[in-house]
Amino acid sequence: MSSHLHILKNYLNHWFKAKGRHSIHSPFLFSLYENCISNIAKYPFENSIEQIRTNLLSNNNLIAVNDLGAGSKIDNSQKRKISQIAKYSLKSQKEAIFLACFSKHISAQNIIELGTSFGTTTLYIAKHNQKAQIHTIEGSPEIAKIASSNFQQLNFENIKLHIGNFDDILPKLLNEITADIIYIDGNHTKEATLRYFDMALEKINPKGFMVFDDIYWSKGMTKAWKSIIKHPRVSISIDFFHLGIISIDQDFTKQDFRLRM
Ligand SMILES: C[S@@+](CC[C@H](N)C(=O)[O-])C[C@H]1O[C@@H](n2cnc3c(N)ncnc32)[C@H](O)[C@@H]1O
Repeated sequence: MSSHLHILKNYLNHWFKAKGRHSIHSPFLFSLYENCISNIAKYPFENSIEQIRTNLLSNNNLIAVNDLGAGSKIDNSQKRKISQIAKYSLKSQKEAIFLACFSKHISAQNIIELGTSFGTTTLYIAKHNQKAQIHTIEGSPEIAKIASSNFQQLNFENIKLHIGNFDDILPKLLNEITADIIYIDGNHTKEATLRYFDMALEKINPKGFMVFDDIYWSKGMTKAWKSIIKHPRVSISIDFFHLGIISIDQDFTKQDFRLRM
């Protein structure tokens, strides 16, 4: 099955099985849904961040890309247009706002993002979680340079950008801080995703959450997600199709949810 068919099949499956607000009985999930999905308008698009996105989308300069991940389905050349990277790599406003809201909802103090790209999602999280420290990791130096200048432009003091491979930086960071959220949005292979999950499992705050982006991007990513949610230490899992969230908090009764965003 081609990867497009794989995504379509899983999308239709999700659409038919996913639930809306009225069928949620878990109090944690109900309040998350109310706060971060039904009332998402409380978190407006940020003009200053959206101006950065607009500028990136119209910038046709080429930059060198050092791809340390699973590659792109669109363009795997070593020099890519900034506009194309912005179009295909950056999370939408809605997803960025959801992640910012989710971080606030669980009062996250330390957040790790694997895969900064140009930093628009990082900026949304930082804007709505000004007391939290966000550590974001990017392996492609020219992409990281643009993210860094975006962070300087908006002058957030709660973002620390780490340039390098997730495999080198994540273990060091996990030894230095207790992360409340680890958001994995890069190197979308089954093996890498399971490796980051295993690393994080030992060190994350036991009340913390891991967010996996693009869980249906490929068969490998779907296998990784299915294996993660079956792990004996995972209590709840929430499948939003574009991303999946898991908790290892043993106070939650083990349950797998599929929700519409
Ligand atoms: C999908 S983009 C991140 C998008 C961003 N989180 C957002 O929400 O807009 C993934 C990024 O991860 C980076 N990346 C992939 N594999 C990596 C690795 N092994 N180490 C460091 N960076 C990596 C890529 O260079 C790319 O910029």
